[in-house]
Amino acid sequence: MKLRGLRTVNVVCLTLCIIAGICFLLVLFVISIIHTYISYNSFVNSFQFSTVPFWKDNRTINASPLVPVIKLEEVSLLNLSIVVVSCCRNVRKHLVGFQRNLQAITALFGDYRIYLGESDSEDGTLTFLNQWRNNDSEHVRVHTKGQQRWRIFSRTARIASCRNSLLQQAREELPSFAYYFVLDVDVGASSLFDVKDFVSNFIYPSSSWIAMTATQRSEYYDIWALRIKSILPFDCWQRINKLTWFFIDRSYLMKHLVKIHQEPIPRNVSLIEVESAFGGAALYNAKYLNDHCSYEGKHQYGTWWNDNKCEHVSFHECLQQYATEQKIYINPQFQIC
Ligand SMILES: *[C@@H]1O[C@H](CO)[C@@H](O)[C@H](O)[C@H]1NC(C)=O
Ligand SMILES: *[C@@H]1O[C@H](CO)[C@@H](O)[C@H](O)[C@H]1NC(C)=O
Ligand SMILES: *[C@@H]1O[C@H](CO)[C@@H](O)[C@H](O)[C@H]1NC(C)=O
Ligand SMILES: *[C@@H]1O[C@H](CO)[C@@H](O)[C@H](O)[C@H]1NC(C)=O
Repeated sequence: MKLRGLRTVNVVCLTLCIIAGICFLLVLFVISIIHTYISYNSFVNSFQFSTVPFWKDNRTINASPLVPVIKLEEVSLLNLSIVVVSCCRNVRKHLVGFQRNLQAITALFGDYRIYLGESDSEDGTLTFLNQWRNNDSEHVRVHTKGQQRWRIFSRTARIASCRNSLLQQAREELPSFAYYFVLDVDVGASSLFDVKDFVSNFIYPSSSWIAMTATQRSEYYDIWALRIKSILPFDCWQRINKLTWFFIDRSYLMKHLVKIHQEPIPRNVSLIEVESAFGGAALYNAKYLNDHCSYEGKHQYGTWWNDNKCEHVSFHECLQQYATEQKIYINPQFQIC
């Protein structure tokens, strides 16, 4: 019995098909280059680039900023409680400094709880965290997810998942707490950290802010998490990747969207109101942590090679929807490192 489909393949036809396929892909490629080129030019010509760092830009500067209501020495947190959360991966070398700084912070409060999430470490991170928990089992919780890298490829999606689990744990286990503090282990380990800078968050009227976020002495590094209306209304890295994917030089956009904003913020600048920021540490007023808000590590409409999203942004957008009077700030005195 002969099968129809098994006839000898027509070589000429096959070759023509392959050539047609290649031509089609080439045309697509050329079209997308032209499209990128046009988008790049139209963006560069229409976007109002900042000429000064965001904190000097008078589109950011609030004419009546939130001002301190008490002195640093008058701050008392002894009747209050704090929950600290951190996600840890291969950070063993930072953990001693991190633990020291956290102990200085938690000692200010009447009660505290530390939630430590771990995954994918190969350097003794988990051993240290478990010892820490054993030494202070009343206050320290460790949650490990083991190897996640081959299950969730995107780093930001893994971090978002860690942050969501820790937030959920805190909400389930504790009836109430006053403050929620999200801290990155590497910057949180700095020997330059001074606990007074942390206390400076409490000199402002406590029901008037959703979050106080940190800055750094040497530069303001975290432009990815930063969103400010009209100055940085989008994900700078996603935008740069999209507009320069083929051969367009990215240095112009890098300079005008990222580097310009990284100039260190002087301590004497007033609180800076933002839609989102992080910078290694963010202190939240727990009463504004709406139950509906969580972290997302992926853009909804991203392409698979360009969809990593800074997980703090969606969280902040959500919190802001529920607490419309209160704002998110960068506190220039809150220098974490
Ligand atoms: C805003 O800043 C620009 C320079 O960055 C300055 O020329 C302008 O006068 C300022 N506008 C106001 C209202 O302060
Ligand atoms: C702390 O709480 C105690 C008792 O509830 C109260 O007497 C005291 O004034 C409070 N201290 C501060 C600084 O709020
Ligand atoms: C746990 O406590 C022991 C004994 O005090 C101390 O030597 C060790 O450094 C502590 N480890 C951690 C991770 O806190
Ligand atoms: C901050 O301090 C610098 C000098 O250290 C000074 O030139 C500047 O005017 C101060 N700015 C504010 C807003 O006080």
